[in-house]
Amino acid sequence: MAATALTLAGTGVPAQAAPAPGGPGIGDTYYPDYGNSGYDVGHYDIRLRYTPATDKLTGTTTILATATQDLNRFNLDFVLDVSSIYVNNRPATFAREGDHELVVTPARTVSTGGAMTVVVQYSGVPSTKVAAGFTAWTKTADGALAIGEPEIAWWWFPSNDHPTDKATFDVSVAVPTGVEAISNGTMPRPPVQESLGYTRWSWRSLKPQATYLAFLTVGQYDIATDTTANGQTVYNAYSQLLTPELRDGARASVERTAEITDWESTIFGPWPFEARGGVVLPPGSISFALENQTRPNFAASFFRRGANTSVVVHENAHQWFGDSVSVADWQHIWLNEGFASYAEWLWSEKNDEGTAQDIFDYLYATYPDDASIWTTAPADPGTAELFGDAVYDRGAMTLHQLRVAVGDDAFFEILRTWTADHRYGNGTTAEFTALAEKISGQDLNALFQAWLYTPSKPVPASKSLTKP
Ligand code: ARG
Ligand code: ZN
Repeated sequence: MAATALTLAGTGVPAQAAPAPGGPGIGDTYYPDYGNSGYDVGHYDIRLRYTPATDKLTGTTTILATATQDLNRFNLDFVLDVSSIYVNNRPATFAREGDHELVVTPARTVSTGGAMTVVVQYSGVPSTKVAAGFTAWTKTADGALAIGEPEIAWWWFPSNDHPTDKATFDVSVAVPTGVEAISNGTMPRPPVQESLGYTRWSWRSLKPQATYLAFLTVGQYDIATDTTANGQTVYNAYSQLLTPELRDGARASVERTAEITDWESTIFGPWPFEARGGVVLPPGSISFALENQTRPNFAASFFRRGANTSVVVHENAHQWFGDSVSVADWQHIWLNEGFASYAEWLWSEKNDEGTAQDIFDYLYATYPDDASIWTTAPADPGTAELFGDAVYDRGAMTLHQLRVAVGDDAFFEILRTWTADHRYGNGTTAEFTALAEKISGQDLNALFQAWLYTPSKPVPASKSLTKP
């Protein structure tokens, strides 16, 4: 566009585009004001102090980012009370907008490609902050949990809160001595007594990590550490508030993490991260499990009937499908949940507890015709059904139909190529279906249209072929 490019009068030197504010969203279809535009984060250094008795969180987050435009203003997503912000060593002004936007005006414009060091000092009682209609921070009897999807980062660190802007993380938290503070990755140093009554715990995530997959679990935990055959740290934690029965079921499941992830890596490709493990939460706190990077957190209730290896298989399958390969837009959530659910089917098949076809047939026959699984399209579930049956079960059924259509060799090659091609990045449904067609050499349009895009009950290929 040389002919029409602006030049500085008389100099022939291209003029800079006028500096402009970054946007309050990153372009997500379902959550247009999640994430921000105008910069790209490379690293978060989150340094906190937390007191369970008062639920008071104070600290500093330092964000290392790069401007992607000439930037005279930008947004962070955050809800706690900010006392100061520095951008590139100079005090910045800031204001709150809407329920989670923090608008930052640096003293000097940052030019395209320029480094931005953003230092945010803050404090607050996270459980009192309501945004998107709720508080995602969970207070427990002996601590707190920063665990949620898609919303959680706002309650504990300022960020560009969208899975398309991944970064490495250092998380360090001082808590009263005797209480554990657990996060992702490995511990670059053991916990250190830092002042009278407080011990600082440090954690580091070495691979790109989505903001919602960063977690903080504080409370009294029994820790079990180990090393895998390939030398990786296994760090498991069990709430001391578990009953003996819950604790036994939890240990009989989570202590198998290395075995389960080794098996998963034979199907999905090499384990993507630097550590493994799991955290089992106090009863009555959170009712779901979350695939936090390197170390999923599990509700105690998953173990109320004893061992439950399916949930360990599911959350660890997400390390490939969700954590290493993350959604490019929240509407593609079946790429996480359908795949993690199908991993459970494969685990069942491996353990002679029912084949994937058995599970498919059971679900197909059991869901009532008017159930949401049939009236919701997995590839466009909307926010109300983001974690609904269509995303989980129909997502897995779609993968099974794909496997039936292309055969095992092509199917498992598709899975491994997907995790390799998008490793530490993002993916879309269209990219997945195109890859499946490319590897199988088949036209799969009708299959994907029926199973992913149409809000009605599809006819399975296997069924229609064997019809009398
Ligand atoms: N990704 C989580 C899982 O595997 C689900 C999280 C659902 N979130 C929630 N707030 N219920 O299954
Ligand atoms: Zn899941």
